[in-house]
Amino acid sequence: MADYDYDVLVIGAGPGGYVAAIRAAQLGLKTACAEGRETLGGTCLNVGCIPSKALLHGSELFEEAHDGTLAKFGVKTGKVELDLPVLQGEKALAVKELTQGVEFLFKKNKVDWLKGYAKFTGPHAVEVAGKPVTAKHIVIATGSSVMPLAGVAVDNGAGIIVDSTGALALTRVPQHLVVIGGGVIGLELGSVWRRLGAKVTVVEFMDQLLPGMDGEVRKEAAKIFKKQGMELRLSTKVTGASVKGKKATLTLEPAAGGTAETLDADCVLVAIGRRAHTEGLGLDVIGLAPNARGQIETDHDFRTPIDGVWAIGDVIPGPMLAHKAEDEGIAVAENIAGLTGIVNHDVIPGVVYTTPEIAGVGLTEEAAREKAKESGGDIKVGKFPMLANSRAKTNREPDGFVKIIADAKTDRVLGIWAIATLAGTMIAEAALAMEFGATSEDIAYTCHAHPTHSEAIKEAAMAVRGKPIHM
Ligand code: FAD
Ligand code: NAI
Repeated sequence: MADYDYDVLVIGAGPGGYVAAIRAAQLGLKTACAEGRETLGGTCLNVGCIPSKALLHGSELFEEAHDGTLAKFGVKTGKVELDLPVLQGEKALAVKELTQGVEFLFKKNKVDWLKGYAKFTGPHAVEVAGKPVTAKHIVIATGSSVMPLAGVAVDNGAGIIVDSTGALALTRVPQHLVVIGGGVIGLELGSVWRRLGAKVTVVEFMDQLLPGMDGEVRKEAAKIFKKQGMELRLSTKVTGASVKGKKATLTLEPAAGGTAETLDADCVLVAIGRRAHTEGLGLDVIGLAPNARGQIETDHDFRTPIDGVWAIGDVIPGPMLAHKAEDEGIAVAENIAGLTGIVNHDVIPGVVYTTPEIAGVGLTEEAAREKAKESGGDIKVGKFPMLANSRAKTNREPDGFVKIIADAKTDRVLGIWAIATLAGTMIAEAALAMEFGATSEDIAYTCHAHPTHSEAIKEAAMAVRGKPIHM
C-alpha cells in the first residue's frame, strides 16, 4: 500500500478508537491514531467511566465509615472526615495510570499517535495539526460530547452550573446539588455528592428515572434513591437558570406545562444526555452527511457510505457505552483486515454504578411483551428478591431483585435485569447466557457457587418456571 502513509488511520483515541488501532496493528496493518486531547483514552478514561468510578468508590467508602455500616460489623473508625483533595488526587492518579497505559500499548503495538485534531481533506486524506496524512482506511471514532440545555449555561470553571466534567472536578461538597436529568450520569454523580454530604434534588422530564430500562427496575430504583435521601422531581422540566454570586436559581415547570416555580442551589449538574461529536471533522469535504440526530450511519460492518471510511462508538447509533465502542473497535479492525468482525447489538449490557448497582441486558419486559404480541407469542417472567439471597442478606444488602424474561414457548432468555450491590458483575453471566442462546432452564440447572449474589440469577431462572427454592 505504498500510495498511502498508513493502512489504517483512526480518528479519536477513546475506547472505540484506541482498541480499533491496537487490533488493526495486531493484525499487521500499519496504523496511526489521531487524538487531539493531551492524553489518550477519550471521554471514558479522562472524564467519564474511570474518574466517575474513582469518586463512586471513594464516596462509598466514606459513606460506609460515616453512616455506621462499618460500625455495624464492628469496625470502629472514630470521627470520620472527608479529605476531598486526597479523594480527587486518587481519582487523578487512576486517570493518569490508565491513560498512560494506553500510550504504552500504542508503543508496544507500534501504533503512531498523531497529536492533534484530524480534519478530512479527501476520502483517504486528513490534516492533523496542519500536517497532511493519507490512509487507505479511515475509522471515525470521535465519540460524543455533552448535550447543552437551552437557558442553562454551563461554566465548569466557576463550578456552579456544571456538566459531568465539572461535577467530577468539584473542589467543595455542594450544600444543595440540583441534577437536571435522572439518567445514568445524574444518578451516579448525584450519588457521589449525596454520599459526601450534599442534599441532592434530581429534576427529570419523564415520569420515571433511567429511560430505556425495564419499567419495574425504574420504579424500584426511584424507591431506593428516595430512601437514600435524594429528592426526585419527576415529570418536571427546567426552563432557565440564573447565577448570582455563588448561588444558582432554576426555573422549573411541570413537563406538561403549568405554573413555574424556582429552586435555589449552590451547584447544578446538567446531565440530559450526550450527542455524537463530528464538529470540525470536515465531513462535508467527503460528502458524508450525519443523520437527523447528528450521528454517522454505518452498515452492519461499520462501513459508512463513503469508500474507505468507517465509523464506530458513540458517534454512530446505539447505546453510548465504552464496552460497545470497544467491541466495535475490534470488529471494524477485523473487517478492514478482511476477517469477519461482528458485534451482537442485541446483547450489550448496561450498568448504572450506584448502590445498589442497576444492570440489564436484552429486552425490557415491556419491549419483550410488545414483540411477543406482534408475533402472536407470549413471555414468561421470573423474579427473585435480593432479600432472599443468603449472601446479600448476610452483607445487609437487601435492596433489589433479579428478573428474567423468557419466551413462553421456547424458554429462550430475552432479557435479564438486576438491582443488586453487585449487579454490574452479575450481568456478565447474563450476557454470556444470552450470547449462547440459553433458556431459563439452562441457567436454572447451572451450578452457581454458594453463597454468592449470583445465586439470585439461578433462582430467578427457576422462578420463570415457578419453582425457586428460597422463596
Ligand atoms: P470518546 O471516548 O468520546 O473518544 C473520542 C475521542 O475522539 C476523544 O478523546 C476526542 O478528543 C477525540 N476526537 C474528537 N474529534 C477528534 C478529531 N477531529 N481528531 C482527533 N481526535 C478527535 N460508559 C460505560 O460503558 N461505563 C461507564 O461507567 C461510563 N461512565 C461514564 C461517565 C461519564 C461521566 C461519561 C461522560 C460517560 C461515561 N460512559 C460510560 C460513556 C463512555 O465514556 C463512552 O461511551 C465512550 O467513551 C465512547 O467511546 P468512543 O471511543 O466512541 O468516544
Ligand atoms: P441519559 O440519556 O442517561 O439521561 C438523561 C436524562 O435527562 C433522561 O432521563 C432524560 O429524560 C432527561 N432529560 C432530558 N432533557 C431534560 C430536561 N430538559 N429536563 C430534565 N430532564 C431532562 O444521559 P446522561 O445521564 O447525560 O448520560 C449520557 C450518556 O453517557 C448515556 O447515554 C450513558 O449511556 C453514558 N453513561 C454511561 C454510564 C454507565 O454506563 N454507567 C455512566 C455515565 C454515562
